[in-house]
Amino acid sequence: MNKIDYLRISLIDRCNFRCQYCMPEGTELDYVLLQDLLTHDELLTLLRDVFIPVGFRKFRLTGGEPLLRPGVVDLVREIATLPETEDLAMTTNAFLLADLAEDLYQAGLRRINISLDSLNRETFDKIIGNRGKSRWDKIWAGIQAAHEVGFDPLKLNVVVIPGVNDSEVEALAALTLDRCWHVRFIEFMPIGNANLFQERAWIPSEELRQRIRDRWGLVESRVRGNGPADVFQIPGAQGTLGFISQMSECFCDRCNRMRLSADGWLRPCLLNETGQIDLKTALRSGVSVVELQEKINYLVQVKPDINYKQRDSGTQEGVYGRTMSQIGG
Ligand code: GTP
Ligand code: 5AD
Ligand code: SF4
Repeated sequence: MNKIDYLRISLIDRCNFRCQYCMPEGTELDYVLLQDLLTHDELLTLLRDVFIPVGFRKFRLTGGEPLLRPGVVDLVREIATLPETEDLAMTTNAFLLADLAEDLYQAGLRRINISLDSLNRETFDKIIGNRGKSRWDKIWAGIQAAHEVGFDPLKLNVVVIPGVNDSEVEALAALTLDRCWHVRFIEFMPIGNANLFQERAWIPSEELRQRIRDRWGLVESRVRGNGPADVFQIPGAQGTLGFISQMSECFCDRCNRMRLSADGWLRPCLLNETGQIDLKTALRSGVSVVELQEKINYLVQVKPDINYKQRDSGTQEGVYGRTMSQIGG
């Protein structure tokens, strides 16, 4: 059985962007912001006394936008210094990264994944929901800061949206030619408020690979990450290209992760709600850490039956539950 040792921790469900595929502008009334988030101390207690004893060793901080969480640098420091932590990473939109990259690195963060859906300022502004004066430059400055400070690997996430940014696939792939960055193309998922969804709102990764193959050639990389991406490389390029193909392929049988939401729900699978448990209420009502460990151990055992692939492939049950910003991607 796959080792389940990776926990994605959503620190906050708020975000300073309104990406079309995540929290589209105008859908705010469709969801309520989460209230009463896990406190800093509760989160650390859960990691130290519950998740680590059960075998979790790899942690990724997500959001919403994790850098909006008050005290995020201290939290990074405390998680990084837990002796059992083998890997600590973050997924961010980078809007606040230029100012925080150095502090995060000093605090012990080493891996960072940044959303960058377009190299074109207008397209970028449109995707993130026109949040005022072009934010692209600030994101680019954040990416540069992360690079200069030494984050390695530095991964850029591109959600490919037909008719919006799909024409930029080659330009984004070209970033890897002379930079040791990892650009990953993600098939758009119909989840939460992503109202873009319609027939073929996503482009199969293989179609993108073929375009890149035609232009430069493409070889499978020997380096494989922790996650769902299939990794390739343009021959001679410094960086790699990843393809996250949850719509056209199924990677559930190698799923190694669970998700903790900012309000303390533990969720075994991104795409369905089966088995989720409310750890915050349990912790606050005095359930012992041993009992919490037992609950999580049980979920680890049954996860293969909960994984999305196990569900009736004809239904999409659960997909429209919590939004991506509430689950943490
Ligand atoms: P590393 O490989 O550890 O760097 O992480 P990652 O690629 O899993 O992290 P990231 O937060 O950058 O995830 C990018 C995207 O991959 C997510 O937004 C999802 O679209 C997709 N993804 C990540 N994990 C899962 C998963 O368990 N199931 C599905 N269906 N999609 C996932
Ligand atoms: N489909 C695919 N990826 C998504 N993300 C957010 N919403 C979706 C969606 N509907 C990705 C973002 C970010 C990561 C945390 O989640 O691009 O990189
Ligand atoms: Fe894991 Fe569920 Fe994603 Fe499959 S769909 S990879 S089981 S989180």
